Amino acid sequence: TEPLQDDGVDKEHLLHSFVEAKEKVNAKFRDLKKYLEDCEKFLAEFRKADENERDIKKFSSKVSGYLAQVSRISEVLSRDQIKMAFFGRTSNGKSTTINAMLQDKILPTGLGHTTNCFLSVHGSDLPDPYILVPGSDDKRNVKSLDELADALSKEKLDPSSLVQVVWPKSRFKILSGDVVLVDSPGTDVSPDYDGWIDKHCLDADVFVLVANAESALTVTEKKFFHKVNQHLSKPNIFIVHNRWDASASEPDKMELVKNQHLSRSISFLVDELKCVDKGKAEDRVFFVSAKETLMTRMQKHQGMPQGGLWLIKMCILLKQHELLTSKIFILNQVTSIALPGCFSGGAIHDEGFFARQLEFENFEHKLEECISKSAIKTKFESHAVSGLKIAKKLKILMEQRVGSTSQQRSTQEKAKKEQENRLKFVKEQLEISTREIKCLIKEITSKVEGQVTEAMTE
Ligand code: GTP
Ligand code: MG
Repeated sequence: TEPLQDDGVDKEHLLHSFVEAKEKVNAKFRDLKKYLEDCEKFLAEFRKADENERDIKKFSSKVSGYLAQVSRISEVLSRDQIKMAFFGRTSNGKSTTINAMLQDKILPTGLGHTTNCFLSVHGSDLPDPYILVPGSDDKRNVKSLDELADALSKEKLDPSSLVQVVWPKSRFKILSGDVVLVDSPGTDVSPDYDGWIDKHCLDADVFVLVANAESALTVTEKKFFHKVNQHLSKPNIFIVHNRWDASASEPDKMELVKNQHLSRSISFLVDELKCVDKGKAEDRVFFVSAKETLMTRMQKHQGMPQGGLWLIKMCILLKQHELLTSKIFILNQVTSIALPGCFSGGAIHDEGFFARQLEFENFEHKLEECISKSAIKTKFESHAVSGLKIAKKLKILMEQRVGSTSQQRSTQEKAKKEQENRLKFVKEQLEISTREIKCLIKEITSKVEGQVTEAMTE
């Protein structure tokens, strides 16, 4: 598969800050691990030389404990990803929204109840896409949407079970930023919210409630998010009013409906869930058409866009000025072919088309801004603090070790000096004694010789 071209929206730098932070924290933990391994090796050699050294054994076991802790954190860090979870009632367009973000039809979408279990979309460095179904480590190759839909339909899956859909990172920019997108069955499908939250939500960095702009938020949707709010403190929740293209058919009511949705959504986030401040709540509510965005992005990647989009812009302008005559009808036909998602039954539903496209991009931007900040804090801060604590403890430990070694050394040096002094003293004493003995021998010898001479003269 060909890597996608840049679509002009610079999402990479926001998501890249997460990847960059992850690399930096990982590198620091690698350094700490290497240092601990060196300490462990050094102490082991020390112990070999002096096995009875109880102190060293104590140090060694502490260092081994830190090493195990650092290895565990490194392992968790290398697996850390940003998780975005999408919830909402059946058919609101959760899977379509994820596809629009991926810029391709990856997840099955359709009328009625389509997604029948949790699906997580991951990036990998492998060249081919595959899926992992619960209870098996088999990587099943699925190259297309039809193959995925077919594979899923053959599985008898519980709504709370998870199928992992893995695509090459090179294919999707968003996945190269270590992002996992989690699709869910409709909140009206199962009442097992606690099970869903325990299994899929506790490590999510952001939740997107995909609502239907054609109706109000439902009781089940609200109930689900109340539960999420009970399990997690101040979750990051975004509300996307999808199918906003429907508003184009009633342009006179558009503003009224929008304001109604906006004030209810803000009140839900601020007053009911209390998960965001009032001043920031407007940046959490969006009015989009995932289907239009998906179609536009797909068309763009299929090479149509510039000319096609120009034609569409033209049509919209002409229609706005009521200049779309039968002569220009040909434009309608061309654009219907170029961008089928924007039209319904040949009629152009173009009011706010570009505004909806921009709103989708704005939604992605705010989402990424929020997660790049909050994920770095939630995922790395506690690890960085633990790493720092370990480094500090290790420093104290090694200082103690150096202290006790130098104390030992100075005691040894003192003893050595004492021995040397004693030796010197003994040597001096010996020399004195030797001299005295020599004198004595001399004295005795001369005495004996004197006595012998005396005896001989007698
Ligand atoms: P389940 O998986 O069944 O819970 O549904 P879902 O929320 O994943 O909805 P899905 O993405 O499958 O979309 C349901 C239907 O709505 C599909 O036919 C989509 O093409 C259509 N749809 C999704 N988004 C939009 C939109 O923005 N506008 C319009 N007009 N139709 C949309
Ligand atoms: Mg779905």
